[in-house]
Amino acid sequence: MDVVIENLPVLIFQGAKITLQITIISVAIGCLLGLIGGLSRLSRRKVLRFLATAYVDFFRGTPLLVQIFIVYFGIPKLLMDLQSFMVDSYGMTPVADSFALPRFLAAVIACSLNSGAYVAEIFRAGVQSIERGQMEAARSLGMTHGQAMRYVILPQAFKRVIPPLGNEFIAMLKDTSLLSVIGFAELTRNGQLIIARTYESFAIWLTVGFIYLIMTFTLSRIVDYLERRYKTGD
Ligand code: ARG
Repeated sequence: MDVVIENLPVLIFQGAKITLQITIISVAIGCLLGLIGGLSRLSRRKVLRFLATAYVDFFRGTPLLVQIFIVYFGIPKLLMDLQSFMVDSYGMTPVADSFALPRFLAAVIACSLNSGAYVAEIFRAGVQSIERGQMEAARSLGMTHGQAMRYVILPQAFKRVIPPLGNEFIAMLKDTSLLSVIGFAELTRNGQLIIARTYESFAIWLTVGFIYLIMTFTLSRIVDYLERRYKTGD
């Protein structure tokens, strides 16, 4: 018990705080990517549809763990090889000894790209769930396709995507634990480090789990509230 109490501040104010930060940033960027990706998948332009589909397929179809490795280890290696090639072939002077990405940046890149793929599907489904008649009515009032989307379809779709977006948020919060593999000091990694020092696996892992539970539980209550709030007015 003493071990838990002693380490609780670190777990909460370093671990949980960073976990929450990275989740909020990633899902926020993910929503932006998802909006672009989701609408592109519904576009009449074939190129856009193809690009968005490829994006979703790749990031939803490969493990987040592998994506984290690609971003954190793969990209710096690629840049290094590219530099060697430029130096050898064109006599360029090297710009850096190494291209290590800061862990925080790698974490945000990997999680945002991944989240964006899931959110794209959420938005696409949300827009497709709005009855055809809504678009037709808006168009018959003289709105352009874009205006109808912006003022008629998206506001209605927004309400419907709140529950699945909440799901994505909660899933992402737990999935950020994968970032511990690159030594990014979020909640899980902090737990590992404390156990390496104290050997108290059971107590610490239980505490770590409990802290995740408190965060996800709070989030579901917030999602419930938002759902109820935006239901009125229908
Ligand atoms: N666990 C799945 C994976 O490893 C999904 C991770 C992404 N989760 C999310 N909420 N975007 O690919």
